[in-house]
Amino acid sequence: MPTLPLQNQKALVTGANSGIGEACARALAEAGAAVVINYVTHPEAAQKIVADIAAAGGQAMAIAADVSNESQVEAMFAQMLGAWGTIDILINNAGLQDDAPFDQMTLAQWNKVIGINLTGQFLCARSAVREFLRRGVVPEVSAAAGKIVCMSSVHETIPWGGHVNYASSKGGILQLMKSMAQELAPKKIRVNSIGPGAIKTPINRSAWETPEALKSLLTLIPDGRIGLPEDIGRAAVWLASDASDYVTGQTLFVDGGMTLYPGFATGG
Ligand code: BGC
Repeated sequence: MPTLPLQNQKALVTGANSGIGEACARALAEAGAAVVINYVTHPEAAQKIVADIAAAGGQAMAIAADVSNESQVEAMFAQMLGAWGTIDILINNAGLQDDAPFDQMTLAQWNKVIGINLTGQFLCARSAVREFLRRGVVPEVSAAAGKIVCMSSVHETIPWGGHVNYASSKGGILQLMKSMAQELAPKKIRVNSIGPGAIKTPINRSAWETPEALKSLLTLIPDGRIGLPEDIGRAAVWLASDASDYVTGQTLFVDGGMTLYPGFATGG
């Protein structure tokens, strides 16, 4: 029996040089996986995570690739498979916001967010699934032929005015994830999502960096605290491990109750 839940497994985390992706990469490495740290900007941040993982006795490497670019994604997978032979876990995390009032949103803003958040998850998942199908189940490593965790959001279900491109990308991830899960379950490939709520990362700095902003944000969170990247890292390890072997096609909301619509506790 492996002593760590992800021992001997190879993982790729997209957008892993900051925020939720970084926390997932570090948590997977602690759980025994070798981890590719994908990034686009700030190579020094990616290298620091690689060095930290190596210093703790783990294995990691950084690979630059824009997930919305097909040839860059294919080159990233070729590099990973060339170096490590295979992939067992994909954390489809890379994503961004580019907000605007609806009437002012440009096509470029729409295409950028859909391209990275949704098409990027499709391209990375397709490359991972091709390798999962080629290799199949290796029982000593995992009960599954492969695991994909899509980073969605509470906004796959909560509408979000002023962020229509972002919310649409997350709504798209819901059906990408579920349809893949349905198609691939007979091949022993599991596909799930994590739906983070408000997690303290650079993407939503304006929502937590002043006491007034934080107070207003906390009215949306029954648990009474902002989430931490590590909250998501722990969920990612569970969804990637055989502990969740019978779970596929689900979104696990890790949101302190944000999807409980707290306004209805006293209203409605
Ligand atoms: C967004 C954050 C936001 C959170 C809760 C996330 O998906 O990226 O900006 O704080 O949802 O609304």
